[in-house]
Amino acid sequence: MERKAMCPGSFDPVTNGHVDIISRTAAIFDEVVATVFANPNKDHLLPLDERMELVEGAVAHIPNVVVERGDGLLVECARRRGINVIIKGLRAVSDFEYEFQMAQTNRALGNAVETLFMMARPEHAYLSSSLVKELATHGADIGEMVPPAVQRALEERRKTTGEPSASGIQLSGGDEG
Ligand code: PNS
Repeated sequence: MERKAMCPGSFDPVTNGHVDIISRTAAIFDEVVATVFANPNKDHLLPLDERMELVEGAVAHIPNVVVERGDGLLVECARRRGINVIIKGLRAVSDFEYEFQMAQTNRALGNAVETLFMMARPEHAYLSSSLVKELATHGADIGEMVPPAVQRALEERRKTTGEPSASGIQLSGGDEG
């Protein structure tokens, strides 16, 4: 039987930390679905289509990863795909509470889905999408933090719209996805 896992997140934008978690998951499972959701608790900078495109580009070198749009509940997306393992990245203790709540909620929804946690590499432990957006606002070099296409997209956006805005920085807790 094929072992499948889902790596869900809002990926606004995808960082090297996300790519590392997805690629390490792909080394363990036969197929990995990176699912890009709208998170109603967050004001997204990038539209869903653009976030998906950037994730697709970032994982194009990993043959057993596919990228999908998240629709509705995560557990339902997983069930429709025949997936019963969700992988989430953990950077710090501060991520734990949020992830613990989501994992317990997903379990309470009554589906046979297990949430497993993968520790971020130490070099990615500080990294978050909102930190990247904050740095990009100021035109800082984010080349070590995100795939090149993400760097270009944020730079382009800064030039044309002045975004990303510096507000709402969230260093940890639900930002790794
Ligand atoms: O990268 P993020 O924003 O931390 O990812 C959060 C995400 C998208 C995984 C979460 O919001 C989610 O699962 N959304 C789908 C809707 C859902 O199932 N909500 C209940 C989850 S407890």
